Amino acid sequence: MASRQGPWDAHALVPVDIRDGDLNDLSAVMQVMEHAFPKTYGEGWNHHQCRSMLSMPSAKLLIASRQDNVCGFVISRQAADEEELLMIAVSPESQGHGIGYLLLEHMLKAARTAQVAFVFLEMRADNPAEKLYAKFGFHQIGLRKAYYTGPGMEKFDAVTYRAVLTI
Ligand SMILES: CC(C)(COP(=O)(O)OP(=O)(O)OC[C@H]1O[C@@H](n2cnc3c(N)ncnc32)[C@H](O)[C@@H]1OP(=O)(O)O)[C@@H](O)C(=O)NCCC(=O)NCCS
Repeated sequence: MASRQGPWDAHALVPVDIRDGDLNDLSAVMQVMEHAFPKTYGEGWNHHQCRSMLSMPSAKLLIASRQDNVCGFVISRQAADEEELLMIAVSPESQGHGIGYLLLEHMLKAARTAQVAFVFLEMRADNPAEKLYAKFGFHQIGLRKAYYTGPGMEKFDAVTYRAVLTI
């Protein structure tokens, strides 16, 4: 993963566009997915898993791009007044510039508009992304032992978080 840099570097000056995405963005999403997730933990999805998820009517995709280059995405799924954040990733070279924050901010704003009351997510225990989630009021509500399986069959626990949007 790229080292996190300060807001003063050149990358930070390039504007970020956030838009709704669809299956036409699948290749770009996979490009980000393949580079953003460390291979050690088995968290990322393959092409087939991603296509299946994005084909579901309840799936939502947001795309972040800079100068027309896709650099991040968030995938979620809504059911009634609940939404599950399934996957968020930013290309390693674009990490640490507030793009993950922007994506999550847009996702939660759209969720509120869609009358969502609770947002859930599952994350590998010790993933530094928990700092990002904490900024938006996510709190741990559960722990699933050995939820993720790494390439060498190692097991990693998952933490379940929830954010309440009605307060
Ligand atoms: C998690 C991820 C999407 C964050 O995207 P990002 O654009 O780098 O995040 P931001 O620059 O918006 O950071 C916002 C805050 O999140 C926290 N944060 C996010 N990722 C972090 C990391 N790897 N290390 C330390 N802090 C991190 C920081 O507190 C940061 O705030 P700060 O800069 O004021 O300290 C990105 O690191 C990523 O793609 N990681 C790999 C995929 C992954 O693990 N996804 C989450 C599980 S689905």
